[in-house]
Amino acid sequence: MAIERVAVVGCGTMGNGIAQVAATTGHHVTLVDLDEGRLAAATAGIEKSLTRVAKKGKIDESVIPEILGRIKTTTKLSDCGDVDLAVEAVSETLGVKQAVFAELDKVVPAGKILASNTSSISITQLAAGTSRPDRFIGMHFMNPVPVMKLVEVIRGLDTSDETTNEVNALAETMGKIAVPANDYPGFVSNRILMPMINEAIVCLQEGVASRESIDDIMKLGMAHPMGPLALGDLIGLDVCLSIMEVLHRDLGDSKYRPSPLLRKMVAAGHLGRKTGRGFYEYE
Ligand code: 3HC
Repeated sequence: MAIERVAVVGCGTMGNGIAQVAATTGHHVTLVDLDEGRLAAATAGIEKSLTRVAKKGKIDESVIPEILGRIKTTTKLSDCGDVDLAVEAVSETLGVKQAVFAELDKVVPAGKILASNTSSISITQLAAGTSRPDRFIGMHFMNPVPVMKLVEVIRGLDTSDETTNEVNALAETMGKIAVPANDYPGFVSNRILMPMINEAIVCLQEGVASRESIDDIMKLGMAHPMGPLALGDLIGLDVCLSIMEVLHRDLGDSKYRPSPLLRKMVAAGHLGRKTGRGFYEYE
């Protein structure tokens, strides 16, 4: 059955991007966050991003009100009773995600799909806390969601073929390419990307090169669209630290040890673009 109504829980960078793309591609979206102020900021942010997409000629500016009209915001998870799929994009903390899914499991009708946009936490473990592990799946979008083509689709141990097929089809209708990965810490994307960003931070910490040189070397030498330090700032250094901690703890290998400088940046509240300061400064 085609997925028409989607709930997005959490209106951070990823949640907003998922809501924007889902609404742009014709889905009815319920965007949930506990904080009214964050929801208001989300709507403004989505409008700004849509304007940017329109300026590039990818959509007509006249359709923006229609797209925004498909996004309903609410502070209550109980408003998700009519959705075909709910995708969670709250903070990268196991306990917070488990609490959200315990509520969603009560509200979202039996047989409908629960998905997590987690960057690294076990899909099997999140699914086990619900009554429907067969209808539970990882749907891992990339930042910035309106631009990046990939959705990494992660099956938990009990995820059904039917659920996987429906989610692959949803990703396609959202203009994305679904690529499967198995349920291991960090899946494929962050198992490979995060150690690279972490190693760039170790290089900075050890004085191997300046922040600009580290990023320029990776951009000019490896054709990366942005350097690893700038990318860490874009993703959020708190998110990078959470992912490294999952890799380190769950894979048990010292090669995943988070850099002390990464820990220090997070402790100082310098989380990257979202706080105006990370390895670089932002307006
Ligand atoms: N909304 C809409 N469109 C946006 C956008 C946004 N938030 N941000 C960028 N764009 C569009 C621009 O309009 C532009 O479109 P065009 O190609 O049609 O002209 C295009 O993206 C490129 O943008 P810019 O010209 O402004 O800037 P850049 O060329 O420097 O590209 C970038 C910006 C797309 C962010 C590029 O630097 C990039 O691809 N960086 C790497 C991103 C990446 O690696 N993401 C994955 C992160 S890992 C992750 O998300 C997993 C998680 O679990 C941690």
